[in-house]
Amino acid sequence: MANQMKTIGVLTSGGDAPGMNVAVRSVVRAGIAAGMRVLGVRRGYNGLVNGDIYEMTLRSVSDIIHRGGTILYTARCKKFKEEETMQKAIAICKEFGMDGLITIGGDGTFRGAYDLSVRGFPCVGVPATIDNDISCSDYTIGYDTAVNTIIQMVDKIRDTSQSHERCTVVEVMGRHAGWLALDAGLAVGATSIIVPEVQYNFERDILGRIHKSLQTGKKHFIIILAEGVGGLDELVERINNEAGIEARSAVLVYVQRGGSPTGRDRINASILGYKAVELLNQGIGNRVVAMQKDIVVDYDIQEALAMKKPFDVERYNIAQEINI
Ligand code: F6P
Repeated sequence: MANQMKTIGVLTSGGDAPGMNVAVRSVVRAGIAAGMRVLGVRRGYNGLVNGDIYEMTLRSVSDIIHRGGTILYTARCKKFKEEETMQKAIAICKEFGMDGLITIGGDGTFRGAYDLSVRGFPCVGVPATIDNDISCSDYTIGYDTAVNTIIQMVDKIRDTSQSHERCTVVEVMGRHAGWLALDAGLAVGATSIIVPEVQYNFERDILGRIHKSLQTGKKHFIIILAEGVGGLDELVERINNEAGIEARSAVLVYVQRGGSPTGRDRINASILGYKAVELLNQGIGNRVVAMQKDIVVDYDIQEALAMKKPFDVERYNIAQEINI
């Protein structure tokens, strides 16, 4: 790699995701290999403003490739929308001799990176959130691990659901997106997958599907509900009262954010972190790196934030057809 920057920083921000440590490790190793100093910023943008910054070495990122969470900690920084806060952050960066910054996180993290970049401090974003709701990228770090964690949890729930001949409604994360529900629902054979992107009708999509399968001898059911839809308790109550089968709920919450990153997350996080360093090294900021059909690309941050990612209705329909 050429070398236009002497010192870069790296931070993680927003909800933690398995694979963030892998991306941090890749940034540190790639930066040092390119002859740079790499400074770790703890606790996201709060750390930037507070100067919670330390020099990282090759050994700072040893033995973390398999660990979920983030050794840099993370935080959500509401104050980072204020001009004064942004100017203070830039002053702190310059005080530490930083020439550029890599920000690992979701859309909110990219907005901070944009705000710094347009004020003359070059940043590159790396997409990391279990929600997979970053429109410019087919893939976000942590998503594959979270899908597999949900699958493992639901496979366990299936045992008791089957033994009691119940319907279990499992609520999964994803914030306002239904990707986790869709892919996990397909992978566990959920009778119904309820996502914000597809309007659902209780009589048709829940009652009708349960009754149709009961008639073929199916005796227990799994329904996956994306948290962005809501209404878990009411849905369970209606199934109990109207479907003629006992219903229970299971809310997976934060287990979905933990665990050792999968191979796919480790491979993609390593490549995305490396590419982010490469851009800064070429003196290029105000970009986000992303995956398009497994190819690493990069976009202007504002362009990336304006993109829309269409929901995969075909995949949703396949699940509807075969999960009966
Ligand atoms: O964005 C990741 C995520 O786990 C979402 O799926 C979820 O809605 C949210 O974070 C939870 O936020 P917090 O960790 O602040 O409770």
